[in-house]
Amino acid sequence: MLDQYAVFGHPISHSKSPRIHSLFAEQTHQQMQYIAQDVPAVNFKTTADAFFSEGGKGLNCTVPLKELAWQYADQLSERARKSKAVNTLARDTDGSILGDNTDGIGLVNDLTLNHDITLLNSRILILGAGGATRGILLPLLAQHPAHITIVNRTQLKAKTIVHEFADTGSLNSCDYADLTSLQFDLIINATSASLSDELPPLPNALLAASGSCYDLAYGNKPTAFVRWGAAQQARKSLDGLGMLVEQAAEAFALWRGIRPETAPVIDLLNRDRETLNFYR
Ligand code: ATR
Repeated sequence: MLDQYAVFGHPISHSKSPRIHSLFAEQTHQQMQYIAQDVPAVNFKTTADAFFSEGGKGLNCTVPLKELAWQYADQLSERARKSKAVNTLARDTDGSILGDNTDGIGLVNDLTLNHDITLLNSRILILGAGGATRGILLPLLAQHPAHITIVNRTQLKAKTIVHEFADTGSLNSCDYADLTSLQFDLIINATSASLSDELPPLPNALLAASGSCYDLAYGNKPTAFVRWGAAQQARKSLDGLGMLVEQAAEAFALWRGIRPETAPVIDLLNRDRETLNFYR
């Protein structure tokens, strides 16, 4: 039987992960199968137990299961421990389950390697203070930006994150009203606003000259935030498709011990959505 992998989430039918991992497997000649499975939160533990006891080698976990996967893991990588969210589970040879979070390194790789965006000494603004923000903070701070500011409607959530990550780099929080006097080289949208095509309240002139915008969300059309970035003359205004492929590559490397090339897969997915004739 082929080595078994899966992505669990709810909903899951639109997941691109099976396509991405089958392209990686083909490219690196790995004998494996990767499927998507609809798993509501209440069924997570029993379904994961069954998957691993039947010999499953690794899982990706997406909304709304990342916190449950964090609790499920027997051991956690440092970046997963801090983020309190796990997107990758791997069964070790002794049967124990390792939890990792590859979202942040996926974002960093897409920004720096695919798009030539410098993080060292840059002023970074993150919109939102939920699980998505927690997942990307440690790898971003490891790039030694000048500082990272978190802005959120609910101040307490931003302040709590700043407190938890205070020892890992220069991090602060502010209110949307404070943004009028500030400027950033990179603005990352980690809110869930894109899912309803909404935009957090952002003043003009928030983005420094030659600055870039990055939305962790992606779709077949540019998100409201990607459109905002383009209207602000961003050097690059990107959505999270590249990050999706890069986080998958990190998970694949953890499971299979071989790192796939991401560029051809990102190109293919971009061509898919161009073919759909939605993306302009
Ligand atoms: P995730 O796990 O995807 O991060 P989450 O934990 O529910 O999801 O967090 C969603 C984030 O998006 C929150 O920071 C939320 O702000 P609040 O904490 O103030 O609720 C933010 N958010 C969602 N819709 C938003 C909108 N229209 N404008 C600004 N922020 C928004």
